[in-house]
Amino acid sequence: KFHKYPKAVSFAHDGPFGSFDKAQLQRGLKVYSEVCAACHSMKLVAFRDFEALGYNEDEIKAIAKGWKTEVPSINPETGEAATRPAIASDKIPSPYPNDVAARAANNNALPPDLSLIVKAREGGAPYIYSLLTGYAPVPAALPKENRPGVGLHYNPYFHSLNIAMAPPLTADDQVTYDDGTKATKDQMAKDVSAFLTWAAEPKMEARKTAGWSALIFLIIFTALTYLSYRTIWADKK
Ligand code: HEM
Repeated sequence: KFHKYPKAVSFAHDGPFGSFDKAQLQRGLKVYSEVCAACHSMKLVAFRDFEALGYNEDEIKAIAKGWKTEVPSINPETGEAATRPAIASDKIPSPYPNDVAARAANNNALPPDLSLIVKAREGGAPYIYSLLTGYAPVPAALPKENRPGVGLHYNPYFHSLNIAMAPPLTADDQVTYDDGTKATKDQMAKDVSAFLTWAAEPKMEARKTAGWSALIFLIIFTALTYLSYRTIWADKK
């Protein structure tokens, strides 16, 4: 049965006081770069944006240079299409030269760009987490028309129940975290969901701070207005 609502999962960035857990975002980047980036681009995020995750310039240059996919370029001698290692100002490239190639490699399904996926899907980060951890054996009672066809995988959190993406997180310790956190499947799913939330809304913390400043200002302003009203009308009985 289709799960309309995602699993209950909480993040450091939840709620009006929530802020990103930078260590978690760094772990999420690791999952994205080592697992998801094999199929998904993030064309609205540049390597230098990772400064917000706590990396310095040299670390960012190293991340860009070591990225598995090179960026499209032109061979200056022959004028032919070529690739070169990424630099800090590049956007995170697609692993495929174009959508046709992407579909050809994925059973005709197109892996969406993940820059804004947390905003694009109802349910946000908890939905991404649920999708990643939601793959399940096909229930025996599932009607024939809902069963996964060739190249599809049963996942009750996906709108059509059957998704073209094979389960990407299949084993604990699929990545090795630099901060010593145990990379369970659940942990990796959570971390990459947090990372994708940051990617989709890098200025979230500034937005929340601005909201609170506005509210505090309005409370003070209301008090001042009330007091001036009392003062102005004080001698009118
Ligand atoms: C779709 C995330 C790894 C191939 C998606 C969607 C998300 C996602 C959020 C969109 C689901 C929706 O439409 O609601 C991730 C994450 C990954 C990952 C976080 C790493 C942990 C991969 C890998 C591949 C892949 C490694 C290729 C081998 C696809 C394809 C689709 C897709 C083909 C389209 C599915 C469809 O429309 O049926 N992925 N993905 N993904 N992903 Fe991934």
